[in-house]
Amino acid sequence: MLLHVLGTAAGGGLPQWNCACPGCSGARAHPHRRRRHASLAVQASEGHWYIVNATPDIGDQIEDCPALHPGPGARRTPLAGLLLTDAELDHTLGIARLREARGLELLATGAVRRALLTRLHLGEVLGPYTSLNWREMPLHRPEPLTGDAGIMVSAVPVSGKRPRYAAGTGPEDDTWVVALCLTDRDTGATAVYAPALAGWPDALQAAVAAADCVIVDGTFWDDEEPRRTGISERTATGMGHLPIDGPGGTADRLAPLGARCLYTHLNNTNPLVDPAAPQHKLLAERGIEVAADRMVIEL
Ligand code: MLT
Ligand code: MN
Ligand code: ZN
Repeated sequence: MLLHVLGTAAGGGLPQWNCACPGCSGARAHPHRRRRHASLAVQASEGHWYIVNATPDIGDQIEDCPALHPGPGARRTPLAGLLLTDAELDHTLGIARLREARGLELLATGAVRRALLTRLHLGEVLGPYTSLNWREMPLHRPEPLTGDAGIMVSAVPVSGKRPRYAAGTGPEDDTWVVALCLTDRDTGATAVYAPALAGWPDALQAAVAAADCVIVDGTFWDDEEPRRTGISERTATGMGHLPIDGPGGTADRLAPLGARCLYTHLNNTNPLVDPAAPQHKLLAERGIEVAADRMVIEL
């Protein structure tokens, strides 16, 4: 299985256009610290790729990843479709950026699809440009990504955290946010990708315990970070992101796993956006990594 990390930042990116916090200012001063919005490309089969979540950076992310470049025909693209873990704007605004597509396959849960169709009106807006071909995200039961694909996909429901634009819509259920499980049918290698974790259900624990690589929500270092840095009156948990550190933090979940574990979806307030931050050493001592843009993961 071949994975390309296309971006590792939370909504806003690093730097965020209207932010002069130490993380964003540091990234302006040191361009190698910049991070694009969190996204992952997975090779479904030779020459066929899916991108997990369509961020506002998706055009630049494709340009930056030669495996995703078009050709040899003028309008031939290796991009076979999109996998959506949720309906948040930082994971879906890029769908409109792909409107030049002949057609676009999107795997999403019913809750995510309905939010995009009835609140963002993506069907009406993009209909005149391209066709959105919706496919139900398989829950728990893996199915091949493409007909001849060696890669199987399934999702684990994680939480009912819905985007602010979809507040009050649809039934309460835990399919608003899912963790993706990708398995190579030939080698058995398994990756779990979960950039938004409001909780850690038993089914997620079972999935990560069986995985070879786990890439999860590293939005905030600790629960008080959003309040301390003045970006929110809510805690990390209150904002729908389990913190990395502290009681109930995800590092305690990852450290005992046999899998290679990495954090992604880093907010610009997270101390980890500074490569010199001591928090990197704390994670390294527990065998946990921080994902970087352009990282290639082979399983
Ligand atoms: C989130 O990850 O909680 C959302 O992307 C927040 C946002 O809408 O920026
Ligand atoms: Mn986000
Ligand atoms: Zn900032």
